[in-house]
Amino acid sequence: MNLTLHVWRQPARSDEGKFVTYAANEISADASFLEMLDVVNESLTAKGEEPIQFEHDCREGICGSCGMMINGIAHGPLGGTATCQLHMRHFKDGDEIWIEPWRARAFPVIKDLIVDRSGLDQIIQAGGFISVNTGSAVEANTILIPKAVQERAMDAAECIECGACVAQCPNGAAQLFTAAKVSHLGLLPQGQPERNDRVVRMVEVMESMFGSCTMFRECEAVCPKEISVDFIARMNRDFIAAKFRSWKTESSSS
Ligand code: SF4
Ligand code: FES
Repeated sequence: MNLTLHVWRQPARSDEGKFVTYAANEISADASFLEMLDVVNESLTAKGEEPIQFEHDCREGICGSCGMMINGIAHGPLGGTATCQLHMRHFKDGDEIWIEPWRARAFPVIKDLIVDRSGLDQIIQAGGFISVNTGSAVEANTILIPKAVQERAMDAAECIECGACVAQCPNGAAQLFTAAKVSHLGLLPQGQPERNDRVVRMVEVMESMFGSCTMFRECEAVCPKEISVDFIARMNRDFIAAKFRSWKTESSSS
């Protein structure tokens, strides 16, 4: 198939960006979206032009590095799919495709389609871990976890930190990402000792960098792992409960 691409080109964070139009010719319907960009980049390189810079690693929906806006939708039109898993058979011959970097104030452009997602790392650094010396792995059945709890925790743990939820949200909010990370630890027995401190620290760092959630639910619609906004309600409940407990402790000790 032959396509026309309008790609956001921006040499550096401090430079002005603009859309540049490229022809993507003889693209196989079985190619992935990233492979289509590889083909375009090969022709740009052959002509001595700067290839389009985009981030990628696993190319199988695991690492979360490949996000971009495709026709205004984070990770493209398919839903439940990372950009690397989107195939060209979902487009038609002759289509025009607009490709942009993630759109969020908290994700400044580094170059072309690559953005700085370190704001998400800062939320994890605030509490997305369990502070114990684990030593070697314990025997699998030492800590029994009901199947329903384990599956719910796994639903949250599927988050790949891609940032699509932030990019699609009109407020640039990171609630779905933070809720997934808070919940996958907060649901398991190993996460209970730090549960209150964790949710407060992570939410406070999130609020200092990202927008507020007003429940547009655009995050849920574009999440490649289809993480539910129910986790946001769960995080908010945990946050309020943790704040109430710390207020009660402070007022009883004063
Ligand atoms: S919640 Fe979904 S969209 Fe947001 S970072 Fe995690 S995987 Fe990506
Ligand atoms: S390249 Fe790893 S999720 Fe797409």
